[in-house]
Amino acid sequence: CGIVGYIGNQDAKEILLAGLEKLEYRGYDSAGIAVRGEKDTDLFKVKGRIANLREAVDESVSANIGIGHTRWATHGEPSETNAHPHQSTSGRFTLVHNGVIENFEELKSEYLQDVNFVSETDTEIIVQLIEQFEKETGNALEAFRKTVSLLHGSYALAVLDRDQKDTVFVAKNKSPLLVGLGEEFNVVASDSMAMLQVTDQFVELMDEEIVLVANDRVEIQKLDGTKVERDPFVAEIDASDIEKGTYPHFMLKEIDEQPFVMRKIIQEYQDDNDQIKLDEDVRQAMADCDRVYIIAAGTSYHAGLIGKEFLEKIAQVPTEVHIASEFSYNMPLLSEKPLFVFISQSGETADLRSVLVETNKLGHPALTITNVPGSTLSRESNYTLHLHAGPEIAVASTKAYTAQMAVLAILAVDTARAKGLTLDFDPLKELAIVGNAMETLCDQKDQLEQVARDYLSTTRNCFFIGRGLDYFVGLEGALKLKEISYIQAEGFAGGELKHGTIALIEDGTPVIALATQDHVNSSIRSNVQEVVTRGANACIISPEDLYREGDAFVIPTVHPLLTPLVSVLPLQIISYYAALHRDCDVDKPRNLAKSVTVE
Ligand code: G6P
Repeated sequence: CGIVGYIGNQDAKEILLAGLEKLEYRGYDSAGIAVRGEKDTDLFKVKGRIANLREAVDESVSANIGIGHTRWATHGEPSETNAHPHQSTSGRFTLVHNGVIENFEELKSEYLQDVNFVSETDTEIIVQLIEQFEKETGNALEAFRKTVSLLHGSYALAVLDRDQKDTVFVAKNKSPLLVGLGEEFNVVASDSMAMLQVTDQFVELMDEEIVLVANDRVEIQKLDGTKVERDPFVAEIDASDIEKGTYPHFMLKEIDEQPFVMRKIIQEYQDDNDQIKLDEDVRQAMADCDRVYIIAAGTSYHAGLIGKEFLEKIAQVPTEVHIASEFSYNMPLLSEKPLFVFISQSGETADLRSVLVETNKLGHPALTITNVPGSTLSRESNYTLHLHAGPEIAVASTKAYTAQMAVLAILAVDTARAKGLTLDFDPLKELAIVGNAMETLCDQKDQLEQVARDYLSTTRNCFFIGRGLDYFVGLEGALKLKEISYIQAEGFAGGELKHGTIALIEDGTPVIALATQDHVNSSIRSNVQEVVTRGANACIISPEDLYREGDAFVIPTVHPLLTPLVSVLPLQIISYYAALHRDCDVDKPRNLAKSVTVE
């Protein structure tokens, strides 16, 4: 979910709506805004997208203070009633919330037995508690403070008090939240992109802080009331980076940006002598550890699987890769000197953060590899490596994934060199070749659109197979396809198919096989034969040097270890067209959100 708030002297509803449009990537099943007009608080809520909300908002309402929310449902189905903002029974307090309140049942039975709840959300208890405590104390700030101190879980909150026209109350724990500063106005947002339209000056908020935001003042306090001073930072994002330009979809734009991202990474990680430039602390942390634990989710997890290959094969560092949400509840036996590497495009994924909180408690060093350097994971870990991919807006990750693999390759080679290992591998040079190969593939969209038509136009399912690195790329290919086209897609290790999954192969079942690795080429091709014999419609993707007649698509040859950065492009592009041909919403697939800030 994403939240916004505005207080100043301009039209609040327009700024809130524009802000929510930029936050839609965080969830888009329902949305709402509340603005404090002359007499009362006006509330507008809808099921569905911000576009629907825009239509629902009364144009004539004029207000200079308000809050807004775009939702990714956790408690309670997506509906107008469950959409935020939520109001207390008397209508005095109105609130938006991002996160999950874990003790809401307890709080409800302890303090709110007589209250009639309108929604099924955990959020509504917060606003009812504020009202309850205000009745007891006669002081809205005290009521807010007491409420916040009772909440367990994650929250970013913004609250309007009908009787106090000059303040938005704000608090956060675990969920991200920033205050943006302006001339005679201030704003609140889950992320700076939402408010770049009005300011580039932001103040970070820390967990368990509450903030009073007025049009000319921002007061940060700890829960005990102690004031906190904090300097603002400048958000270094160009507003044009978050526009589609001439592209029909962000996903297509981001696919096309990959060659430039490679060049940007080379530039950022190269010193004046064309050697790798890396923070000395990161180098030392890699040298000091006896094992790397990569923690990630979704696409970033798939980049982590490739990262393990890089770290083990290039740098000889034992590496494990873990799904974040599993790791936090099933921590494996750790080595003596672990280094935790968190891979996250957004730097905000709650599943990763809960692992980081735990490993920080244990005193283990952590390195975050992220596209957002000021993000929560980046701030709370010891070291950060930046992806330099530019804002990624489409829910399905493309350029961040290839950037993650590129940065992991650089890290692996740097570690190998620091260890004195001899290598015939210059990652910066090889990444330049990768960039060119990506460009070639971006120019072959028509051909790839035809592949999507040939193999995927009517199918209900699709399998991806590969061995070694290709297997991991297949997992990512399957994820891309299912995320945006809703075709049931799964990735398998080529040799494993015959141990079960082959039972699913029917006449015409598409099987996309990656055959980019020389040492397993004949075995993956045998696996393809096994499925073809059983009726599969096999689509083999191979590099120029391993091409065989009948292969469906050829990719340029690059260094074998870096092939995943190139072989994933056709899979991204095929998925894009498969989704387009099915009239799916490519950038905002159903049920998903780009940045999942709840566990
Ligand atoms: C969500 C997105 C995925 C993404 C995953 C991890 O589930 O829908 O596309 O890969 O989060 O996100 P992160 O920002 O941590 O890389």
